[in-house]
Amino acid sequence: MTQHTTDRPVFEIMRAYTTCAVLSALEKLGVLDQLAEHGVVPAELGHEEFLSAATWRYLSERGVVRAEGERYVLTDTGRDLYRERGYLLWLAGGYGDALNTLDTLLAKERKFGADVERDLRWVAVGSALIGAADLRTELMDILHSIEFDTIADIGCGNGHFLIDLCRATDADGVGYDISPASCAEARQEVAEAGLADRIGIVEVDATDVDNVPRLEEVQLVIAFFFMHEVLEHGHDTLVHYLSGLCRRLPPGAHVLTAEIAPPERSENTAEYFSPEYVYTQALMSQHMMSGEDWGEAFTKAGFEVARIVPGRLPGSRLVLVRKPLS
Ligand SMILES: C[S@@+](CC[C@H](N)C(=O)[O-])C[C@H]1O[C@@H](n2cnc3c(N)ncnc32)[C@H](O)[C@@H]1O
Repeated sequence: MTQHTTDRPVFEIMRAYTTCAVLSALEKLGVLDQLAEHGVVPAELGHEEFLSAATWRYLSERGVVRAEGERYVLTDTGRDLYRERGYLLWLAGGYGDALNTLDTLLAKERKFGADVERDLRWVAVGSALIGAADLRTELMDILHSIEFDTIADIGCGNGHFLIDLCRATDADGVGYDISPASCAEARQEVAEAGLADRIGIVEVDATDVDNVPRLEEVQLVIAFFFMHEVLEHGHDTLVHYLSGLCRRLPPGAHVLTAEIAPPERSENTAEYFSPEYVYTQALMSQHMMSGEDWGEAFTKAGFEVARIVPGRLPGSRLVLVRKPLS
């Protein structure tokens, strides 16, 4: 019989914290795909023996996997977590170090960005998995309503999203990212996908819009979970940036951005994800805006707002804007 601990919330939190860390670690090691496809035999993984045995025993105790002889396979709960593993990787892999030293950040003994960093690689990989699981349907719906033959992806991370979109729409692509590690990974993914002749990856600080190559050639810019990096430098800087983007794009070009809106309730809210998202972004002194606020910023910069729609990703807003034809 499953034992519930809901009358002792502290233990639910411990279980969630530990499970999140373990699944994120296994995803980083590339084990979760194997587990989902055909199960794993821990002894064949080459991991530290005692800890590995404890890891699989723990996941079994918590109903994430079950043993079939020597092999562990995912349970139904495990499959649900596997499908949504991007959230766990994004949190534990991307922000785990910073959250574990929160005390020193709060006490001003250390500074985020100088002494402590998020791990941009896992932020980007987690974010790509989240987008693929929870934004793809809405995104495809929007893409089918507009015309383009070249897509630019600002803050492309490991390039998965751009590769997926170029494949699904037959468009060519160009991805921009500031992280050398993400660009290297994206180039490798593009090559492995056999799309090196159709997708280019450029390492660039895309907040410097005048230095971003090829924008005149694209009819669609996507910028998922990137624009708040510009907002971090102030609302005026954001509008200035968007104006520069508008100036560089050809008339009729679309920009599609996805951002998380702040929680709707400020007390005891049952909303999923957005409180945790907004909190982690506060590590970088970033604040989030509503879909309408994003629409206003784009309008000030010279774009026309076409659509603002919520995605399955909790709190997400997809904002589609267009540069006027004249
Ligand atoms: C949260 S991730 C989003 C990745 C991807 N767009 C997605 O939705 O999965 C943000 C990405 O923006 C990149 N980035 C942050 N600041 C940037 C800048 N100034 N110029 C270009 N890329 C930047 C990061 O390296 C990271 O890959």
